[in-house]
Amino acid sequence: MADTPQRRLRSQDWFDNPDHLDMTALYLERFMNYGITPEELRSGKPVIGIAQSGSDLTPCNRVHMELVTRVRDGIRDAGGIPIVFPTHPIFENCKRPTAALDRNLAYLGLVEVLFGYPLDGVVLTTGCDKTTPSALMAASTVDIPAIVLSGGPMLDGWHDGDLVGSGTVIWRMRRKYAAGEIDREEFLQAALESAPSVGHCNTMGTASTMNALAEALGMSLTGCGAIPAPYRERGQMAYRTGRRAVEIVWEDLKPSDILTREAFLNAIRVNSAIGGSTNAQPHLAAMAKHAGVDLKPEDWQLHGLDIPLLANVQPAGAYLGERYHRAGGTPAVMWELLQAGLIEPSCRTVTGQSMGENLEGREATDREVILPFAQPLRERAGFLVLGGNLFDFAIMKLSVVSDEFRDRYLREPGNEGVFEGKAVVFDGSEDYHKRINDPDLGIDERTILVIRGAGPVGWPGSAEVVNMQPPDALLKRGIQSLPTIGDGRQSGTADSPSILNASPESAVGGGLSLLRSGDVIRLDLNRGRCDMLVDEAEIARRRGEPAPPVPADATPWQRLYRQTVTQLSDGAIIEGADDFRGIARTLPRH
Ligand code: FES
Ligand code: MG
Repeated sequence: MADTPQRRLRSQDWFDNPDHLDMTALYLERFMNYGITPEELRSGKPVIGIAQSGSDLTPCNRVHMELVTRVRDGIRDAGGIPIVFPTHPIFENCKRPTAALDRNLAYLGLVEVLFGYPLDGVVLTTGCDKTTPSALMAASTVDIPAIVLSGGPMLDGWHDGDLVGSGTVIWRMRRKYAAGEIDREEFLQAALESAPSVGHCNTMGTASTMNALAEALGMSLTGCGAIPAPYRERGQMAYRTGRRAVEIVWEDLKPSDILTREAFLNAIRVNSAIGGSTNAQPHLAAMAKHAGVDLKPEDWQLHGLDIPLLANVQPAGAYLGERYHRAGGTPAVMWELLQAGLIEPSCRTVTGQSMGENLEGREATDREVILPFAQPLRERAGFLVLGGNLFDFAIMKLSVVSDEFRDRYLREPGNEGVFEGKAVVFDGSEDYHKRINDPDLGIDERTILVIRGAGPVGWPGSAEVVNMQPPDALLKRGIQSLPTIGDGRQSGTADSPSILNASPESAVGGGLSLLRSGDVIRLDLNRGRCDMLVDEAEIARRRGEPAPPVPADATPWQRLYRQTVTQLSDGAIIEGADDFRGIARTLPRH
């Protein structure tokens, strides 16, 4: 199809512009030096960018370096011209002080490329946590036809006959190590065995979550997110995605046609049903902002809280990516929600069909892994949204709150859902590591651990440090977790009952900056409240005290980031970047 141009495309303003012959010559000549011919570029065929996020520095996405040949094949076969270019690397586990700092940087870079070069459409290659939201944020800002190709999770990891999933194994092993149940060697071995192949995290961490949500939003082909990276289906999906990228250019199907409020509400519901990452909250907020969709922090509770957990995948469940894919993956979870009337079926998608049409016949094939809506793994598995005098907004992921924890802290007899405990406050994770085992802190099962200076401005970037483990002495007594509160985030692979993403953060004067160790905090989860029981006069007095310390800017980007970033409740975007939506409607000047 489409060998004859159906209309004049954006790229021809560069490659075939009689009014600017000198510029056209300049634009054309350097593509020649690796063998593209002027005839191809001037043919009027769609020029499709492939935003390559894989590299040796982003191992989670490295499979895209091979998949890209199948994407190119698909683009060529459908009558397009592929142009591959790199995106800013984001490797979640390795980038200091946190990969979150780089999401907005990768976004900025991709916006410039998509706007300033002769591209008619783009394949967004995604995988590791922030590579998905940064790409979708940029696609919305520029608003050229775009389609997501996930790289897929690693194969399942095994250690000693047990499934070990990325990230989750670390949080579990470090508790065992602290309790003296395993030695260093076993800790390391279990961690290494959780990563048996190319691909991103095989748990329902932030990577699997964001790729599932890209699909739930309608931005990738049906079933794309869950295919493990080494499976042959992954290469086939890459080919089909390449083909489809050309077609959506001719159809002029843009992110703004797909990313509606209904699509985002679908994504919020899917996130609960898959036991998705708490990082989905800031990332969806950011994506919605750039798409011009009015998504409020409260929407997480209004639309997501009461959704049951259907995917039996770590950290909320037992299995990993391979079983999830074989059970039907995200379309099978969405099929359940659709039958329950919880998916808006009319949403448009990159397949060219509606979401409802995409999900036809997608019922799960393995009920141990994807449970029926009527018999879920856990009821009410979404995020609780909290407010109070410590912050205006924070969330708690209920799918990982164990029955043991619910019984201990949330269902005290005669005191349903209300828990009072003394705060122990840490300023950043160095302070936590230095002092957590200090017996003088008097930490017991009624303590609430608080960390601040971990938000977008404070860290900077907002760090995954709120899932603090209790002191070794408590772990040895079998106390696996304490309530924790923080203005940072927690890993999507963590199974801790944390109150996180607190906004506004301490570093911009949020309530956490006024908290002192020894203060009593009251958690009233049924009313969505979290307050320090400190009187107004004392709070006013503390406002005069020096603010908690935060580190200085270490790089130019850290300074720019801090000057421009909004709070986690709003997606921690670059303030004002959402003013630029749809910029590809006009052509950049020569
Ligand atoms: Fe990259 Fe988890 S660290 S996907
Ligand atoms: Mg992470």
